[in-house]
Amino acid sequence: DFKQLVFSGVQPTGNLHLGNYLGAIQRFVALQDSYDCLYCVVDMHAITVWQDPVELKKQIREVTAAFIAAGIDPKRHIVFNQSQVSGHAELAWVFNCVARLGWLNRMTQFKEKAGKDRENASVGLYAYPSLMAADILLYRATHVPVGEDQKQHLELTRDIAQKFNNDFGPSIAAKGLGEVFFPLPEPLIGGPAARVMSLRDGAKKMSKSDPSDLSRINLTDDADTVASKIRKAKTDPEPLPSEAEGLKGRPEAENLVGIYAALGEVSKDKVLAEFGGGQFSTFKAALVDLAVAKLGPIGGEMKRLVAEPGHIDDILRDGAARARVLADATMSHVKDIVGF
Ligand code: ADP
Ligand code: NA
Repeated sequence: DFKQLVFSGVQPTGNLHLGNYLGAIQRFVALQDSYDCLYCVVDMHAITVWQDPVELKKQIREVTAAFIAAGIDPKRHIVFNQSQVSGHAELAWVFNCVARLGWLNRMTQFKEKAGKDRENASVGLYAYPSLMAADILLYRATHVPVGEDQKQHLELTRDIAQKFNNDFGPSIAAKGLGEVFFPLPEPLIGGPAARVMSLRDGAKKMSKSDPSDLSRINLTDDADTVASKIRKAKTDPEPLPSEAEGLKGRPEAENLVGIYAALGEVSKDKVLAEFGGGQFSTFKAALVDLAVAKLGPIGGEMKRLVAEPGHIDDILRDGAARARVLADATMSHVKDIVGF
C-alpha cells in the first residue's frame, strides 16, 4: 500500500524539443490533478557526458522554465533539481551494489550513447540506470510518465526495487517496515506521441543530439521557424489514409499525424477523419497553426522566465527543501535496513 506518487525528470542538456514536450512535459501537466508529483531537472544525469559548466547552469534554469511555462504548478507539486538533494547520490550507490553487471550490460541506451569508443565512456554513463532508479525510489514513487525510450530503464528500476526488497526482506521486516520497502513503479508510457520521430528521418527519434536542427521543433522556436520546419518535414507521395490503421509502414505520415493528435489531445483516427484523403500540404498547414497556437505561448513564457533567474532559483530552492524532507525519511530507513 504505497501512496500514489508521480516522479519524472528531464535532463538539462540542450534544446528542449517537441518529443520532450509531448512524450513527457505535456503529460506531467495532465497528471497534476490526479497525483502528487515531483518533477526533477536531472542535472546529475546530464554530466554523464561532458557539459560546459556555464551552459549547464543556464540549461537547468531553462528546463525549470519549461516546466512552469507548460503549466506545472510548483506550489502544489515539487519542482527541483537533482543535485540539490543528496539522497539521489546516496541511494544510487546502494543501488549500484544491488544491480548486477549483467543487467546494466543489456541497456541499449548505453550502447547508443557510448558508441564505438566504449572504453572511453564515463563510468557514470554506464551506471546511469541505477541513478535513475534512485531518483524514482527515493520518493517511493508509484508512477513514472516517460517516453518510450525510457521503457528499458523503468524495467531495470523495478528489478532493482524487487531485488532490494528480497535481499533485505528480513531486515525490512525486523525494522517493522512491512513486507516490501520499495514499490515497483509503473511506467506511464503511451498516447500518440510516446515516441516522436525526427522530421527528417522517420526511423530516428526526435532528439536533442541530432545534428540537424530541421529534425526537431524546439520549444523556443518562433512561429516562422516552426512553420518552415513542418513544411520541410519528410512525407511520402500518397494522400493521407482515412484511419490510423492505414498509417502502418508510413513512418513519416504516422509521426506527423501522431504529433497533431497529441497536440490537439485527440486520437489519430479523429485527426484522419478530418484530413484523410487529403494532401499533405493542407494537413501541414493545419499542423503549423496548431503547433504555433500550442507552443508559441510556452516558448514566450519560457523566455520571460529565464530573464528572471532569481525567481527560478527560488522555485528550485523551495522545491529542493520540500523534496529533501521526503528523501531524508526514505534514506534514514534505507540506512537502517542496510545496516549502516
Ligand atoms: P533526450 O532524450 O532528448 O536527451 P531526456 O533524456 O532528458 O531527453 O528525456 C526527457 C523525457 O523526454 C523522457 O521522458 C524521454 O522519454 C522523453 N523523450 C525524449 N525524446 C522523446 C521523443 N522523441 N519522443 C517522445 N518522448 C521523448
Ligand atoms: Na531520453
